[in-house]
Amino acid sequence: MLHRLYWLALTWLILPSVTCHQFNSSFTPDHIHYLQNETKELFKFGWNAYIQHGFPADEVRPLTCESYGPDYNDVDNTIRNDAMGNVSLTVLDNLDSLIILEQWDELEDMLTYLKSNMDLFEQDTVVQVFELSIRSLGGLLSAHLLLSDTPHASHHNGRFHQLSKDYDGFLLDLAHDLGKRLIPTYKTSTHVPVPRVNLARGIKGVPSKLQKDACTAGATTPVLEFTLLSKLTGDPQFEYYSQLTFWKLWSSKLALNLLPMTIDPLSNLWKDALTGIGASIDSFYEYSAKAAIIFDDDYMWSVFKTSYKALLIHLAQGGGYRDGSMIFSNVGINDGIVFSDWIDSLGAFWAGLQVLTGQVTDAIKTHIVYLKIWNYFELIPERWVYTHGDNINVTSNDSIRLEWYPLRPEFIESTYYLYRATRDPMYLQVGERILNLYKTKFKAKCGFSGIQDIRTGARQNRMETFVLGETLKYLYLLFDTKDENFLHSKSMNGKNWIFSTEAHPLWYHKGLKSKSQKELVKEDIIKVKKRPFRSMLSKVQRHNLNLLDSDDKSFYRNISLPLVADFALPQSQNYIKKIDPFQQKFDTCEINPFQKLIDSKNSFMISGYYAWDYLFESDYSYEKSLKKPHYLSNSSLDGSYVELTKSFYDKYTMFSNKDEREHFLQCPRPKTSEEFTVMIGDISGITQVEVSKLVYNESVSRNDSDLLLLEKDLWVPELQSLKVTFERLNVGKVDSDNELLQQDYIESLYLEKYGTTGECAVTERYNNQQEESALRINKLNGVSVYPGSIVWTLPFEVQGKNPVASISSNGRVILQGEVIENLMVWYGD
Ligand SMILES: *[C@@H]1O[C@H](CO)[C@@H](O)[C@H](O)[C@H]1NC(C)=O
Ligand SMILES: *[C@@H]1O[C@H](CO)[C@@H](O)[C@H](O)[C@H]1NC(C)=O
Ligand SMILES: *[C@@H]1O[C@H](CO)[C@@H](O)[C@H](O)[C@H]1NC(C)=O
Ligand SMILES: *[C@@H]1O[C@H](CO)[C@@H](O)[C@H](O)[C@H]1NC(C)=O
Ligand SMILES: *[C@@H]1O[C@H](CO)[C@@H](O)[C@H](O)[C@H]1NC(C)=O
Ligand SMILES: *[C@@H]1O[C@H](CO)[C@@H](O)[C@H](O)[C@H]1NC(C)=O
Ligand SMILES: *[C@@H]1O[C@H](CO)[C@@H](O)[C@H](O)[C@H]1NC(C)=O
Ligand SMILES: *[C@@H]1O[C@H](CO)[C@@H](O)[C@H](O)[C@H]1NC(C)=O
Ligand SMILES: *[C@@H]1O[C@H](CO)[C@@H](O)[C@H](O)[C@H]1NC(C)=O
Repeated sequence: MLHRLYWLALTWLILPSVTCHQFNSSFTPDHIHYLQNETKELFKFGWNAYIQHGFPADEVRPLTCESYGPDYNDVDNTIRNDAMGNVSLTVLDNLDSLIILEQWDELEDMLTYLKSNMDLFEQDTVVQVFELSIRSLGGLLSAHLLLSDTPHASHHNGRFHQLSKDYDGFLLDLAHDLGKRLIPTYKTSTHVPVPRVNLARGIKGVPSKLQKDACTAGATTPVLEFTLLSKLTGDPQFEYYSQLTFWKLWSSKLALNLLPMTIDPLSNLWKDALTGIGASIDSFYEYSAKAAIIFDDDYMWSVFKTSYKALLIHLAQGGGYRDGSMIFSNVGINDGIVFSDWIDSLGAFWAGLQVLTGQVTDAIKTHIVYLKIWNYFELIPERWVYTHGDNINVTSNDSIRLEWYPLRPEFIESTYYLYRATRDPMYLQVGERILNLYKTKFKAKCGFSGIQDIRTGARQNRMETFVLGETLKYLYLLFDTKDENFLHSKSMNGKNWIFSTEAHPLWYHKGLKSKSQKELVKEDIIKVKKRPFRSMLSKVQRHNLNLLDSDDKSFYRNISLPLVADFALPQSQNYIKKIDPFQQKFDTCEINPFQKLIDSKNSFMISGYYAWDYLFESDYSYEKSLKKPHYLSNSSLDGSYVELTKSFYDKYTMFSNKDEREHFLQCPRPKTSEEFTVMIGDISGITQVEVSKLVYNESVSRNDSDLLLLEKDLWVPELQSLKVTFERLNVGKVDSDNELLQQDYIESLYLEKYGTTGECAVTERYNNQQEESALRINKLNGVSVYPGSIVWTLPFEVQGKNPVASISSNGRVILQGEVIENLMVWYGD
């Protein structure tokens, strides 16, 4: 007789340390308009500072009011030189910002300036192709599209209408000129580009020591801007070479469907055995999804889907039904073993990408980690340490691995996407608090200055071009709650438009030929077959790497089990069917998970955020890492939390009375049970293993009182090539369901530990020293196990005197002496 598991109702405790802060968040239309206007005023302030003290140099220095450009004395100063090429970078990166924020005089001036400087890129400076591609090329293409393909222009603003009428396409000529200066880096014998070029003198003008390592993001990201440049100009070389590189690298992915982060263009070898979603690889994923959208390209979409699945299996920590947060760790490329205790500030963009690709719940859980960081630091450290293991003596400094914050946009970007997807005023609240920090803390004499050392609060004398071009742009658009900006208007709905990785709106359709490039000169046109790169894939060699040794594999055990044959669902269970959980993830457009709660209250400006059971879980999980730097301890900014403000939940939470509010505004007990990950069998087989989710076949009637296989159960053919996240259920611990685990419950799982399995009697008593503990599967090959559901597998032969795995008479699998609460063997019925 099989019996299912029952979960008790949750019990809750009030969290005493949650304090409330008074702050005004009255998101009335007037108030939101005020916030948007304040953001525009900040943009204007920053822009004017640049024009007055920086222009025509690349940047302005915000503390000292000087212009700033390349370091001509030190070619190795790549931090400064990679983006800045003495090309008026702030202008190029902000033409579309001027349009979006409706700064017509300034736009007109800049168009006039650029038109009389068509040799802008004739500069003896060494730049990074990636930076110039996303900031300059993307900026020019975006402004070109906005000025030449704008049905919205005539309706919205007379000035803009006139500017776009007068526009003759010269920005595309500038873009083409830049493209021709950048593309030689791709014409290597390996098809892996060298990372840098001298704008005037080509690759010959770059010292070879600066060309050694290309990063995956750097080599692949230009594919979007370059392909668009080819399509708009008719010059095919940009698309041809950048696509060749993109598909070559993708076909060189390693066994787990993951790409390393560094490659040497000369030796044609991967240079590391690590991967993540932050610096060096971030926009590879971003652009496979965005290129799929803008070019309607199914191949690109399959790259994103395959990658996201691999990332969920190997990198994602948390993110399951019982988890309040989700972190994508850095892992070894060949074994999927976590190798770092930190995450990148750049990774804060990930939630935005998750929203764009339909993964709203994942996005909320990814975003919440960065939101908590912002609560405590009032910014995101470049690298933040999320775990301190057993170390009990942790200071705020210990969580700051890289100590600067150059006013990066990624957290605001994700907040914008989440607001657009959920319309939850919580995200406006985040925006309002960030706006206030930009008005007070980050504003400088001549622009905005970030933080050079978060441990001390020391300022940074730099305003990167993305501060105006991304950070303030996303903040401004966040407050466009009534969709008044043309980007949010109906006329844009028909375009497959995206924000580039530098926040430039880009799109493409076949009608885009009117104001385009002049006649191409002959040598520009190389003969390329239509999309030859895909047919070449089979010829592209894979590049093997020597594995880096991983320091600590102790937490990561490798268990071998006997094989069983594959199987289909039994005919008698035809009321249920198997589906691929990953396919389902990408086929469904997920709506706001709190939508139902909000609908039921029938109100517009209501937040579902505080009704979420796991809201405070990350405050516990990252308790050691979330400590304010000393100098912030008595910040004037109303306690400085972006999240916990009394006026917000008084006005915008869905709680209709005090009792209801008190039910939600409390925290579960911190979870004390241990989680660990185990590899069962050979990890390289993991991409072939089918983990299915069961759903009812609604065209077959069923008797609900009599079912064994239930919807949301999982089904795995065999216990091989499985990466399993277990939770150890110890008596006295609080588990992931917020239960205090009782002896009785654990013993009930063990009652039948002398069981038999089919013909194979297990006669030996398990030498089990841990009668007080059992295991629970929380995640299996990237698929989260729904609370209360069962993972089913087929019977297997139990081998040896002390078998690794055996089966109890009630069908539960016992692994190395410990019973698994939710893994059962399916014998049929
Ligand atoms: C909050 O609103 C009140 C009244 O509307 C106003 O006096 C006060 O200055 C506001 N506080 C902040 C921090 O904006
Ligand atoms: C926007 O803010 C500025 C500066 O605070 C103010 O002078 C201006 O009147 C505001 N404009 C609107 C439309 O509210
Ligand atoms: C930077 O560019 C400007 C304008 O193109 C030019 O006049 C100036 O000489 C350049 N600076 C250097 C150091 O080459
Ligand atoms: C914690 O660290 C501080 C500073 O390094 C040291 O003075 C103190 O003794 C440490 N405390 C413990 C309990 O290790
Ligand atoms: C944190 O680091 C800063 C910069 O190195 C240092 O000045 C400060 O004393 C450190 N604080 C602690 C508590 O160690
Ligand atoms: C924090 O507040 C205390 C007491 O009000 C004050 O002495 C101290 O200077 C303040 N620290 C900072 C960094 O503002
Ligand atoms: C796991 O064990 C199998 C079989 O013993 C072995 O082939 C494989 O390399 C191991 N994997 C890891 C990650 O250690
Ligand atoms: C669902 O049931 C219908 C009717 O028995 C059957 O034709 C169909 O194949 C089933 N679908 C799946 C996916 O099993
Ligand atoms: C469903 O199963 C229960 C228990 O086996 C039985 O009492 C009931 O009559 C069944 N209902 C139908 C509609 O078959």
